[in-house]
Amino acid sequence: MDHFNYRDRILHCEDVPVAELAATYGTPLYVYSRATLLHHLKQLQTAFAPAAPLICYSIKTNGNIHIARLLVEHGAGCDVTSGGELFRALKAGCPGEKICFAGVGKTDAEMKVALVNNVHMFNVESEAELHALGAVAKSLGKVAPAELRVNPDLPPKTHAKTDTSVKGVKFGLDIDTILEVAQGVVGHPHLCIKGLHMHLGSPILSAEPYKQGIDKGLTLIEALRKQGHPIEYLNMGGGFGIHYRKQEALPASAFAEVILPAVKQSGCKLILEPGRFIVGNAGILVGRVIYTKESGGKSYIIQDAAMNDLIRPTLYDSFHRIWPVAPGAGLPVPPDDYEAEISNTFKQNVVGPVCESGDFLAKDRALPRMQRGELLAVFSAGAYGMSMSSNYNSRPRAAEVLVTGGTHRLIRRRETYADLIGPEEDCPG
Ligand code: LLP
Repeated sequence: MDHFNYRDRILHCEDVPVAELAATYGTPLYVYSRATLLHHLKQLQTAFAPAAPLICYSIKTNGNIHIARLLVEHGAGCDVTSGGELFRALKAGCPGEKICFAGVGKTDAEMKVALVNNVHMFNVESEAELHALGAVAKSLGKVAPAELRVNPDLPPKTHAKTDTSVKGVKFGLDIDTILEVAQGVVGHPHLCIKGLHMHLGSPILSAEPYKQGIDKGLTLIEALRKQGHPIEYLNMGGGFGIHYRKQEALPASAFAEVILPAVKQSGCKLILEPGRFIVGNAGILVGRVIYTKESGGKSYIIQDAAMNDLIRPTLYDSFHRIWPVAPGAGLPVPPDDYEAEISNTFKQNVVGPVCESGDFLAKDRALPRMQRGELLAVFSAGAYGMSMSSNYNSRPRAAEVLVTGGTHRLIRRRETYADLIGPEEDCPG
């Protein structure tokens, strides 16, 4: 469910016509719906309520501090994966006690800041990191709370670049040696191994991998406790899929159904790190058509949103629904199935102005003939859109706007040309 709907053949975000937002703030423009963000957070809170979980919003998904602040105000903690994300989470008002710090390459300096801010948990991914964490904690006279992240060695379940629980990826501790590593820190005066963590990959459209992962997790928790570690937490990471093509995603309750009984059996408290599920369907990217052209037997819509704004299509061959903001008569508003034949459309490539053949948002997509100046909406762009954007081709990053009912406000101004060279100008010639 989201709050992007066509009314009188005009796309609205909540009660605001998207064309009005494009006219006010310019394009390319990220538009987010507050009601949709909160709806998805609530769906998770309700589905997992019996375990009273700590839901740490995975801030890498969309780090805008206004979005993070909104979620924190409604009960979320944050999952961070760098010193920069920790900074964002704290700026967004998230107390350290509700922050989990993940990532394979935490530096001593980052661990120190996290310890000083009393983060809830470090998700530790290697033996070397575990000992480094112990040393940093010792230097501060503290005990670091840690979960061991296990790679549960499951079959492939999503795109190879984002599958994190198959053998041979860089994430987590090997399931075959994790207990040896844990044995090495039994009784460590500056480390407390309080939990087991796993993040299976992203996005995942079935509950089955969670079942497989958690089964292995239960056995490990028992073994870790036998070693003397006071395991209190089971962190199942994020990964819950969303609607990209049509209504393919599972509701939160489907994941809760397999996770909750195991959590109960383990006697642990539950931590989750969802990102995409909360923010993915809550954002669209709006682009304005600059030209259309025919070349090499292909038809192109060249509009002003490019791979530097949304890299997912070229990086992962991801599918994002795309449709005019104001579809003309004879067109569906919107289509039920974007991959089917749609009358009054023909196959076109939606591309941006960046100088790469890989700069596309969609290929061979059924879309109507577009005119210069018309608007296109790229749906399900709230997650890993703006957060993976860049200045490639010296393109200033897009503006972001948050809609609440009939009102809207800028939550990130469009970057300027001066922003592009600011850090260079800071260096005296
Ligand atoms: N926890 C950990 C340890 C993670 O590595 C991630 C995502 C999450 C939680 C949040 O996963 P989510 O709930 O958002 O699925 N850029 C890719 C996705 C990369 C995911 C990285 N890790 C994409 O655009 O599909």
